[in-house]
Amino acid sequence: MFFRPGEPHGLRHNPFNAIVVPRPIGWISSIDAAGAVNLAPYSFFNAVAYVPPQVIFSAAGRHATDHGFKDSIANIEATKEFVVNMATWDLREHMNRSSAPAPHGVDEFDLARVTAEPSRLVRPPRVKESPVHLECRHVRTVPLLSASAEEPNTLVVGEVVGIHIADAVIVDGMVDYARMQPIGRLGYQDYARLGEVFAMTRPSWP
Ligand SMILES: Cc1cc2nc3c(=O)[nH]c(=O)nc-3n(C[C@H](O)[C@H](O)[C@H](O)COP(=O)(O)O)c2cc1C
Repeated sequence: MFFRPGEPHGLRHNPFNAIVVPRPIGWISSIDAAGAVNLAPYSFFNAVAYVPPQVIFSAAGRHATDHGFKDSIANIEATKEFVVNMATWDLREHMNRSSAPAPHGVDEFDLARVTAEPSRLVRPPRVKESPVHLECRHVRTVPLLSASAEEPNTLVVGEVVGIHIADAVIVDGMVDYARMQPIGRLGYQDYARLGEVFAMTRPSWP
């Protein structure tokens, strides 16, 4: 089949996010100018550079109850910092609870029933129960193409300035995926756990 986005595809749901899979989940903590804490998952998320390390995530549409920008975007614009917490199998329900469109100012650490632990270099706290945290400083916000002003798509770029890895997920000096148990987002209501892992060495030239 072939279709142009925006034209009928005849499928039960838009397949776009079911074919770009699995997507890592950036579980983003941030604070507003008054220090109110926010936590929400974003699967339009990825690592995009090594030196200095940078991550991106993007928000689709507006806040469902407040109709302004989503809280994570508004907070990061205001206070210029955020933390990416790793969403894991054990934390899947907590992560999902934090996606509720709670009004601005509701502490989603409480809502998600996770513990806020102070970060080292940035003000937003991190999710204590998560094995990995990336402390980030805002680099820039990029407006993306959008269908309408009511449904803006907004990309945030962050520089990773501090990395926490729980000792429990490090084995022989390497991150152990099986201990870390990251989860990824598929399409529809679906998620993935890590399956079989395989290794390949990259070819050299000539
Ligand atoms: C696994 C998962 C991934 C999500 N990914 C995104 C995303 O990439 N972009 C987005 O705008 N919303 C995404 N959402 C929905 C947001 O988490 C939701 O709109 C949330 O209320 C935003 O919170 P905030 O306003 O506190 O930032 C996702 C939800 C879940 C459960």
